[in-house]
Amino acid sequence: MKKFLVIVFTVLALVNLFAAVKIGVILPMTGGISAFGRMVWEGIQIAHEERPKVLGEEVELILLDTRSEKTEAANAATRAVTKEKVIAIIGEVASSHTLALAPIAESNKVPVITPASTNPLVTQGRKYVSRVCFIDPFQGSAMAVYAFKKLNARKVAVFTDLEQDYSVGLSKFFSDKFKALGGQVKQVFYKSGDQDFSAQLSVALADKPDAIYITGYYPEIALISRQARQLGFKGYILAGDGADAPELIEIGGTAVDGLLFTTHYHPKAVDNPVARKFLDTYKKKYGKEPAALSALGYDAYMVLLDAIERAKSFDGTKIAEEIRKTKNFMGATGTITINELGDAVKTVTVNVVKGTTFDFAATIEPHEVE
Ligand code: PHE
Repeated sequence: MKKFLVIVFTVLALVNLFAAVKIGVILPMTGGISAFGRMVWEGIQIAHEERPKVLGEEVELILLDTRSEKTEAANAATRAVTKEKVIAIIGEVASSHTLALAPIAESNKVPVITPASTNPLVTQGRKYVSRVCFIDPFQGSAMAVYAFKKLNARKVAVFTDLEQDYSVGLSKFFSDKFKALGGQVKQVFYKSGDQDFSAQLSVALADKPDAIYITGYYPEIALISRQARQLGFKGYILAGDGADAPELIEIGGTAVDGLLFTTHYHPKAVDNPVARKFLDTYKKKYGKEPAALSALGYDAYMVLLDAIERAKSFDGTKIAEEIRKTKNFMGATGTITINELGDAVKTVTVNVVKGTTFDFAATIEPHEVE
């Protein structure tokens, strides 16, 4: 009997040793916007190496690829919830992808923390979906104020990607604010994957705008910039966080030099011990400066683990509630406070393309755009 008990306890101890909780990581690792997935994944891995355990259990990351598609984002969520039995999900990047997976997580009571989806609808009416980034009404207004007051732009042509909820929303939020300030806006439309923008550019450039504002993602922003410069456009090229990938410069070349975009981070824009440590570790591991999405991936993981520790439980409802109680959390992207709606209230950073790198141009606080 004694021997039997010893064996039972040894087995139990071993099981405990290998006990792991699974966190689903749902990202666009291949397809149109794979640069985004790669950068977030880099940041999450650094966070995981730094903090591999939660409530005494090993964290196992289950990476699922959405192939940059909405339907695959939904499939990944179903698989994460039903097959992998994850306790929480980090993802996606594109708002339309997070919107596709959100109902599945919500109905299964599995908390989602998105590092980067900024469209307001992502969290709206939901209890289980939160984010560590600001939302687009702020991002769009911030660029409107910057363009109007700092760049003295009065006429802007706005390019919207009709396939992306993110782009549709950001264009609207920018335009509303820019018009309220007294500026003029002309709208043109395209779709993810388009290659030839001559029709849109002939409309957009007809009445000589001071700037063009492109609210989609880097592949199309790069192509539109090239074609605009080829047509002789000399004004400002402006964009949102969707521009934030080194691939913008790889595809855009000299045409994107000087392009200004709002985003979540620049190594020079944050200064706190967590940000410094993250920057250091990232540079050592990957031999380059981190981009916003890597810092956001890092923060998403850390905020989630912090919420789990406070919840003292792996219960989805408790974790989701704790995520929304995150206050003054020191992150790689700065200080993060998540409100009761699941949205983070944070600073917008304006970056500018300088040669082959992104340089820091400005920061904009929420109160500056009201
Ligand atoms: N904000 C974008 C969206 O919601 C995603 C994104 C964030 C892309 C940060 C690049 C950098 O779709």
